[in-house]
Amino acid sequence: MSVSSLTIILCRNASTTTRQATSQKSRALLSKILRVDHAGELGAVRIYEGQLAILGRTKEGPLIKEMKGQEEHHFATFSELLPKYRVRPTAMTPIWNVAGFVLGAGTALLGKESAMACTVAVETTIGEHYDNQIRQLIADGEDGAEKHKELIETIKTFRNEELVHLETGLEHDAESAPFYDVLNKTIQLGCKGAIWLSERV
Ligand SMILES: [Fe+2]
Ligand SMILES: [Fe+2]
Repeated sequence: MSVSSLTIILCRNASTTTRQATSQKSRALLSKILRVDHAGELGAVRIYEGQLAILGRTKEGPLIKEMKGQEEHHFATFSELLPKYRVRPTAMTPIWNVAGFVLGAGTALLGKESAMACTVAVETTIGEHYDNQIRQLIADGEDGAEKHKELIETIKTFRNEELVHLETGLEHDAESAPFYDVLNKTIQLGCKGAIWLSERV
């Protein structure tokens, strides 16, 4: 075998190894993103269900129901994407199922302003979280934006809807909730903890 053909073979092997490493990195990123988003959207559905259990018959009922409808669509989308990308759901799913409902119902029991404050806190965290994911997907290799085009569009659409929920909470007196700042910071911290765990467990 000539030196030049040996060089070609070595180069090909090196580029295959690089490609494999890249695709492994992309896979790890996609697993992390889809797992946490699936869990987060389940949590969101359960928060609004908890709020509806308490405030369903009040004048805020239809509004909360509408936001819940969008969360159900987000959750259904990630539920379809998990098997498509062969990603397992987080082991924390049963916990978020209960915690979401308790958070929604618990804040609603404090009054509709507190329920709206909960919405503002959750949607602020999720909005930032989706922005981070969009940046990470774009930065995934030279062709991140192209390679992950569909998922980026999905996350962008959902991010925009979460931001409308955030605005809705503010328009419906979230900031008049008792101890608004404490409530806001505590819930945001809780959501960040849930995100951290769901990405890893
Ligand atoms: Fe959502
Ligand atoms: Fe939302």
